[in-house]
Amino acid sequence: MKYEAIIFDLDGVICNTDKYHFEAWKAIADKLGIYFDEKINNRLRGVSRMESFNIILEKYSGVISEKEKIDYTEEKNNIYKELLSKMCERDLSDEVKETLIELRKRGLKLAIGSSSKNTKYILKQIGLEGFFDAISDGNNITNSKPDPEVFLKAAEYLKLQPEKCMIVEDAVAGIEAAIKGKMDSAAIGDALFSNKATYNLKSFNEILIIIK
Ligand code: BG6
Ligand code: MG
Repeated sequence: MKYEAIIFDLDGVICNTDKYHFEAWKAIADKLGIYFDEKINNRLRGVSRMESFNIILEKYSGVISEKEKIDYTEEKNNIYKELLSKMCERDLSDEVKETLIELRKRGLKLAIGSSSKNTKYILKQIGLEGFFDAISDGNNITNSKPDPEVFLKAAEYLKLQPEKCMIVEDAVAGIEAAIKGKMDSAAIGDALFSNKATYNLKSFNEILIIIK
């Protein structure tokens, strides 16, 4: 087999938490009277919480202190976590679940490479706590995607060379991170617009075809 491991982004790949990020940021943007839409939201994919807020603030004409920025990002995270608290195992689609099980059966190592500090909580909510061989997330990195750090750390935790790992991403920034880390990548959803991924997936289970 071409790869020994697959490193998955979480939000927007394993589960649809991207819609909750949008909802929570929308509440903050509305509060501050900032224009915010799906197109701007797509630019937040893969980037850290504070970097996301800085992107949203590009449309803000007022003045905001660093302390207020911290308070607003915390408020966003509280709204987001409230939405996450209602998630359960049914929020993991059969397609994703069956594909992960089949990949494991074929002997691949499976890891998470996500910028989110809520990774472990989300995995617990959808019934995947303890499932992955390694988790690299927002808690163990200093630079978020498009920096390759989160994926390189995942490969390191798996004790594998980056070239032996394939990345699955829905963020354009995630595809760039994979390229910088010299890793092959499979794009899904919004990442298809990057046109730079090694593979373009129409659906998640196509991973089973490309890894052959
Ligand atoms: C990424 C999302 O997975 O995690 C980004 O695509 C988000 O939109 C980032 O900003 C950080 O998430 P969290 O959960 O730590 O606020
Ligand atoms: Mg994502």
